[in-house]
Amino acid sequence: MKNIVVLVSGGGTNLQALLDAQARGEIRNGKITAVVSSTPGAFALERAKGANVPGHVVNRKDYDSRESFTEALLGKLSELNADLIVLAGFLYILSPAFVERYENRIINIHPALIPSFCGDGFYGLKVHEKALEYGVKLTGATVHFVSAEADAGPIILQKAVAIEEGDTAEILQKRVMEQAEWKLLPEAVSLFCQGRLHVEGRIVRIDQAE
Ligand code: GAR
Repeated sequence: MKNIVVLVSGGGTNLQALLDAQARGEIRNGKITAVVSSTPGAFALERAKGANVPGHVVNRKDYDSRESFTEALLGKLSELNADLIVLAGFLYILSPAFVERYENRIINIHPALIPSFCGDGFYGLKVHEKALEYGVKLTGATVHFVSAEADAGPIILQKAVAIEEGDTAEILQKRVMEQAEWKLLPEAVSLFCQGRLHVEGRIVRIDQAE
């Protein structure tokens, strides 16, 4: 059974999707044992509490550099014995030392079809604003392993979502969450926990179900 720790910074709807999938028995061979928030007031912590999952805070504001913050996070994660770390709306880019320590064991969800609208500074609503500004007709979500470069690690799953006439960033964000993010993230986590993901360079090979 893989020990899953979810890192959050905000509302936590992706965390909720994971908790709901777990309650339905859809996270096979894995268990969410802790949620760690970079923000003390994050609503995601309430969601964890509601599902009886212990919540922890490693407050970004308590550290003056990315290195010292990720050092503190690393300490917490090794205390929690994490096999898999899931970034579910986690606001900060992890240091190379962190990524190296958990190579191919950190999964992130991004609300666009990588390599579009991603990288440093592309977070949350901003991603959808940029997609609308550019005029693309399709966007979507990507779940990928985390590498040292932001949003550039091997892609696990992607799903396209159509842009519709009259979309605002808020409307589009909601559609991408409902149609793609909340499905892809639990699916990718379950595949990982079952040992069905194999990384070969940039390519993630997925074993078929038995
Ligand atoms: C989600 O849309 C997630 O994909 C995005 O932030 C939102 C967090 O919402 N993440 C990024 O943009 C990462 N670059 P949530 O807290 O409700 O899950």
